Amino acid sequence: MTSHHAAETFDAWVKRQLGAVEAALSQWVPLGAPAGLGEAMRYGVLDGGKRLRPLLVMAACEAVRGPDWAALRAAAAVELIHAYSLIHDDMPCMDNDVLRRGKPTVHVQFGQAQAMLAGDAMQALAFEVLTADDRVPAALQARWCRLLACASGHDGMAGGQAIDLASVGMALDESALRSMHAKKTGALLKASVLMGAACAAASDAAWDALGRYGDALGLAFQVVDDVLDVTQASEVLGKTAGKDSHDNKPTYVSVMGVDRAMDYARQLGRQAQEALAQSGLENTHHLSVLAERVVERDN
Ligand code: IPE
Ligand code: IPE
Ligand code: MG
Ligand code: MG
Ligand code: MG
Repeated sequence: MTSHHAAETFDAWVKRQLGAVEAALSQWVPLGAPAGLGEAMRYGVLDGGKRLRPLLVMAACEAVRGPDWAALRAAAAVELIHAYSLIHDDMPCMDNDVLRRGKPTVHVQFGQAQAMLAGDAMQALAFEVLTADDRVPAALQARWCRLLACASGHDGMAGGQAIDLASVGMALDESALRSMHAKKTGALLKASVLMGAACAAASDAAWDALGRYGDALGLAFQVVDDVLDVTQASEVLGKTAGKDSHDNKPTYVSVMGVDRAMDYARQLGRQAQEALAQSGLENTHHLSVLAERVVERDN
């Protein structure tokens, strides 16, 4: 799928993918949902965010040389789940944040009930998007749905969020922290990789290696998120800085400090690269650069 773009730089590839993802989301997230719900949904998901999860889907699909028109559905679905998780994460009953993606949070803008419903509707829409095109083989649709459902639910994002809220003020040990982060953030990032990889046949060895890449990158991502919460300004983050210590959340920074947390993130970044090298796949350049950027980012 990349033959037309052989000389393309990574940044140009990102720009092209982001354009496609934004257009797809804009087409599939309905403006006309009742009673202003569509407006709240579009506000929560369009025009903002780094879109790391969609980029991982597209890059993993490229690595197995799958069709990008199919991967675009998986990319949009995963971003819908992620954006819904952010809307709920910011609500007063959870992290009580007023700033997200450089804008007032959805509940600040539209009220709590509409924010809750926008999240609910986006979660359902993700699965609609995955199952809407019958050119996508039914078996792939089912596989996507299971990967995304498992990563979002009780043993993934929602479960991790429950642990996060139950851990306020507690001194988690490193293994408890790792498990919380793997669920609340890692699972959806790993699912992004695997949903992309599901777009074409890959060997068991490649599948397992991409899973290990997703595990390492997913954990690294949240370790760095914990670091950025203390090292960056709200204007750079587009969300309120210093929130974790203010709320007494156990994080990689509270457990090991900024320097050791970054060492750990870099170690995980190397693990992600090793997994790619073991995949036997040739077309992994974009996955490799994405892993670098996850560790060395400033927002
Ligand atoms: C923030 O995710 C929430 C976490 C899971 C740590 P991102 O940093 O990917 O947020 P956006 O999508 O770029 O806004
Ligand atoms: C949230 O983790 C992870 C989600 C599942 C949304 P955080 O609470 O640390 O995310 P931010 O820092 O608010 O983006
Ligand atoms: Mg949170
Ligand atoms: Mg939060
Ligand atoms: Mg955070």
